[in-house]
Amino acid sequence: MAELGFEVMGLDIDEAKIERLRRGELPIHEPGLGEVLRRNLDAGRLRFTTSYEEAAAFGDVHFVCVGTPQKKGENAADVSYLDAVVESLAPHLDRECLVVGKSTVPVGTAQRLADKLVRLAPAGAQVELAWNPEFLREGFAVHDTLHPDRIVLGVASEKAEKVLREVYEPLGDVPIIVTDYPTAELVKSAANAFLATKISFINAMAEVCEAAHADVKLLSTALSYDERIGGRFLNAGLGFGGGCLPKDIRAFMARAGELGADQALTFLREVDEINMRRRARMVDLARELAGGSFHGCTVGVLGAAFKPNSDDIRDSPALDVAVTIGRQGGRVTVYDPVALDNARKAHPQLSYGTSALDAARGAHVVLLLTEWQEFIELDPEVLGSVVSDRKIVDGRNALDPEVWRAAGWHYRALGRP
Ligand code: UGA
Repeated sequence: MAELGFEVMGLDIDEAKIERLRRGELPIHEPGLGEVLRRNLDAGRLRFTTSYEEAAAFGDVHFVCVGTPQKKGENAADVSYLDAVVESLAPHLDRECLVVGKSTVPVGTAQRLADKLVRLAPAGAQVELAWNPEFLREGFAVHDTLHPDRIVLGVASEKAEKVLREVYEPLGDVPIIVTDYPTAELVKSAANAFLATKISFINAMAEVCEAAHADVKLLSTALSYDERIGGRFLNAGLGFGGGCLPKDIRAFMARAGELGADQALTFLREVDEINMRRRARMVDLARELAGGSFHGCTVGVLGAAFKPNSDDIRDSPALDVAVTIGRQGGRVTVYDPVALDNARKAHPQLSYGTSALDAARGAHVVLLLTEWQEFIELDPEVLGSVVSDRKIVDGRNALDPEVWRAAGWHYRALGRP
C-alpha cells in the first residue's frame, strides 16, 4: 500500500517484530520485500506501531491480515486472531472508517465480524466491514500484490465498494469482482481447494504411473498442451504443504459440514489423503534405496522450506519426511538456503548442514525435497565426490535423470520409472 503511494501504518502486537520492521529488517524471507520496506520507510510513507489506539486514529481503511491456522486436533480453522483484532480495534473506532478482512475464513465469518464491529465501535454503523481475500503466493508476494490477476470485493454497501476501488486504482487495469460477503469468502476457499485438487490429481496419476511403469512428468507435459487443463500446478512430486493449502481444504470441509453440505466436499478428503500418501511413498523409496532399513544409514536432505524462495516451514513435506526417517533410525542431516533457523527451532533433534555438500557428506542416500534453484544446479560429479553412495531420490522431479544416471547415480523419482 505504501508502494502505491498511500500513508501506511503497520500494527502488530509483537513488540520485537515491530522494532525490527522499524529498523527496515524483514522478520521473514520474502524476495524483494526488504527493498520495498526500506524504500517506503525512507520515503516516510510507512511507519509501525503496537498501539491499536494510534492505528485507529491514523487510518481511514484498516486491513486485517492475521492468520487463521488449523485448530489443534481438529480440521476447522481457528479464527480467534481475527476476533482478537476486532475486539482490540473496535473500541477505538470513533469516526467513519472501513475495516477490510484479507484472511482466509470459514464462510459466514465476515457477517459475524461486521456485526461485532458495529456493536463494539463508538462510531457504530459508521464502521463498515468489507471482505477482500488475498491470493498472493509466498515467494512471489511483492509481484502478486502489485500485479494481482483479480481483486474480489465482498461488500455490504456501494460506499465500501467506492473506497476499495480508490484504494486499488493505482494498480491499473485489474478485473474487479464485486459481490457479497459469503461469495467473497468462498472464492478464496474454492481457489485453494482447486489448486490442491490439481496437485493431488497429478500425484494420483503419479501413483498409477509408478504401478504401470509410466512417466508422470511426460504425462503432465502432454496434458499441459490442452489449454483447458494447462501446465501450472501440475508438477507431481512430494505434494503440497505450507500454511495454506493443507489447512484450507480441511477447514473448508469442516465448514461445509456445519452447513449441512459435507457431501459436496468429501472429494477433498481424498485430495488430502493422496497428498499425505506422497510423503509416505517418499519415505518408502528412501528406505528401499537404503537397503530396507534406515538403521546405520546416513541420509542427506536437501530442503526444509515447504517450497523454494521461502523460509516458511509450516506443514513442510520436506521436514515431515526428514523427521519420519529420523524416527525410523536414519541419521538425517538437513540443509536449506534460508529455512534452517526455523527448522532447527522446530526440530532440534535433526542435524543441520552448512551447505548442500555438507548435508550430503558421507550420505548413503540423498533426498531432494524442496526444489531450490541451487539444488537443481548441483553438479552430480561434485555431489558424488562427497557422498558414501551415489543414490538420490528426487522428490520434486526437478533434476534431469539422464544427467544424474550418466554420472553413475542411482536416480529415483516419484511417478517415474
Ligand atoms: C497458496 C496459493 O497458491 C495462493 O494463491 C494463496 O494466496 C495462498 O496459498 C494462501 O492461501 O495464502 P502458497 O501456500 O504460498 O500459496 O504456495 P503454493 O505456490 O500454492 O504452493 C503450495 C504447495 O504446493 C507447495 O508445497 C508446493 O511445493 C506444492 N506444489 C505446487 C506442488 O506440489 N506441485 C505444484 O505443481 C505446485
